[in-house]
Amino acid sequence: MAHLTGAAAAELTLDPSDWNKQRQLAHRMLDDIFNHLETLRDQPAWQPLPEHVRESLRGPLPRTPQGEERAYLDFLNYVLPYSTGNRHPRAWGWVRGSGTPFAMLAEMLAAGMNTHAAGGQQAATYVEQQTLAWLAEIMNMPANASGIFVSGGTMANLLGLAVARHAKAGFDLRKEGLQSSHQKLVIYGSTETHMWAQKSVELLGLGRSALRQVAVDENFQIRPDLLQQQIRADRAAGLRPITVIANAGTVNTGAIDDVAALYEICKQEDLWLHIDGAFGALLKFSPEYRHLVAGIELADSLAFDLHKWMYLPFEIGCVLVREAAAHADAFAAQASYLGKDTRGMLANGLPFSDRGIELSRGFKALKVWMSLKAYGTEMHGQLITQNVEQAAYLESLVRRHKDLELLAPRVMNVVCFRFHPAGEANQQRLNSINREIVLRLQESGEFVVSGTMLSGDYAVRIANTNHRSRMEDFDALVRAVLSQGEKLVSA
Ligand SMILES: Cc1ncc(COP(=O)(O)O)c(C=O)c1O
Repeated sequence: MAHLTGAAAAELTLDPSDWNKQRQLAHRMLDDIFNHLETLRDQPAWQPLPEHVRESLRGPLPRTPQGEERAYLDFLNYVLPYSTGNRHPRAWGWVRGSGTPFAMLAEMLAAGMNTHAAGGQQAATYVEQQTLAWLAEIMNMPANASGIFVSGGTMANLLGLAVARHAKAGFDLRKEGLQSSHQKLVIYGSTETHMWAQKSVELLGLGRSALRQVAVDENFQIRPDLLQQQIRADRAAGLRPITVIANAGTVNTGAIDDVAALYEICKQEDLWLHIDGAFGALLKFSPEYRHLVAGIELADSLAFDLHKWMYLPFEIGCVLVREAAAHADAFAAQASYLGKDTRGMLANGLPFSDRGIELSRGFKALKVWMSLKAYGTEMHGQLITQNVEQAAYLESLVRRHKDLELLAPRVMNVVCFRFHPAGEANQQRLNSINREIVLRLQESGEFVVSGTMLSGDYAVRIANTNHRSRMEDFDALVRAVLSQGEKLVSA
């Protein structure tokens, strides 16, 4: 025994040799990140990495220990100040949520637990299930809908499409794959559908040509008449339509497809209705604006992103699937080493491994569960309402100014506009002025906005999923756009 005790004492571990010292470092880390979050307004929204910082981020593989303190200081000095800034109160580029201090702590707790959340008899399984059920209730999906938390919108949509492909292929796709000589499968979405759809059809082996991109109307909504025509033409050509992707909030303008019309088409044509509600679906939290996404609960699968409009830190997306059996049919697999016993730790199996492609997964639901408990659906609804009203306010400022032009209808939290001084009609010149405005705003460190092309016009675009913004920030944005625009025109 003496020998065994002696051997154990010499063995290595990554636990601290001095727990109090690590505790002190941990408290310092928390203080630093809280100070950082508390003073975001005083910091640049974005700043480019200076050469000396890039240099510091390069280096040889560390073979010998440098110590935790040193590793932390490198983070503090060279990493923390240089991000793409979505947590800043004046950041509205692309669609990136702003994170919350409380959910950051939940993330830390999940990492501390380091549980394997594929399922099994542990509290995490029940928390994941409960949180999915809450989200199904918020979305008005059936209580027995299935679902899974994944890293984000792209993954959530990909899984939805994978379930659809299996459910509607008309043959045992999991067994035979797409190498068999069955009919070619085709999928429909509008030209405004996010690029996840292209990546997904490529990855699912359907090929990009299987994604039919149907034209939109002047509101950037899919044309149901053209969709129907395309489905008929494809059937006549011997293809097998399987799925329609509806957008509940397009990435470019926040347009919401006519879900009721698409639902009817899917019913008539026996197609799977998949809805990409990456941020739009979260309007369901808001009593004032949930009517905008009425009907998304009719989806066979609904994807949305909690790191967008529930403000949670990356990475957290979710897909809900109406028919639990269809969800499991697409992914469930057996393995002797994961035997499903009726007793013990794996009793009732690994439900989350059966709903996606990953086996090992972190405790993704914890930050959702804790945030819902802490703030309730009410507070989340109020924040979403606030974001929509801020976007409406920005729209009103744009409409009121003679040198600003709205480039797309504002439906929810996305505003697309440009600087357009009287007398300037050259599209190329307007595009280059507005592109330059976006870059200058970013480089000024004052705002993070992004841009997009709409019918050939370059738009300054904001997507407001920021719980830190105030009305005055939008006044400041308009002043900055005008000032940059005027400088460029007179240059
Ligand atoms: C409408 C829409 N769908 C899907 C995505 C992809 O989500 P993620 O970036 O979380 O993968 C986005 C991202 O902005 C989006 O706006």
